[in-house]
Amino acid sequence: KNIVILVSGSGTNLQRIIDTIESGEIEDAKISLVVADRACYGLERAKNHNIENMLIPRGKNFSAELGKMIPENTDLIVLAGFLSILKQEFCEKWSGKIINIHPALLPKFGGKGMWGMNVHHAVIAAKEKQSGATVHFVTSGIDEGAIILQKSFEVTENDTPETLAEKVHHIEYEIFPIAINQVLGN
Ligand code: GRF
Repeated sequence: KNIVILVSGSGTNLQRIIDTIESGEIEDAKISLVVADRACYGLERAKNHNIENMLIPRGKNFSAELGKMIPENTDLIVLAGFLSILKQEFCEKWSGKIINIHPALLPKFGGKGMWGMNVHHAVIAAKEKQSGATVHFVTSGIDEGAIILQKSFEVTENDTPETLAEKVHHIEYEIFPIAINQVLGN
């Protein structure tokens, strides 16, 4: 099965996917392409593993340019810390084959502006008792697609946005490979 991965940041989730494909935890899969919308360490990880990679600078034509680069035989497009919004036409073409990981328990703390550390600041400000991570299908409505897998943990009094970010990342490393296997039908 052919996977395309989109990144904008440090790419630790990308690394986890690379490692779990290598270990066989994600079965029968190959990363055919990594695309970044900005210079980022995620792109370097792809290079380090000799995975085909490309930078398509973010901007108005991003979705159209990306659309041209995605091989038709792609089985799954994975947004792994990817920060551009994909156009409706793109989402519809790949409907059911694009997934994203979000650092909170959707439908809470999703939508416009809810990305990166903003999410963890909002969770602390709202005095939430729980946070977690969600893998969901991507549709043109930001963070609105059907939930595939979600896992939560308890937020304690001592938690800060930074400790939440770290805890959420560990949950992400746990659930992302499981969700990918599920969507691939493994
Ligand atoms: C993750 O927390 C993901 O949920 C969010 O961005 C972060 C990406 O981290 N969308 P990394 O680049 O995989 O380390």
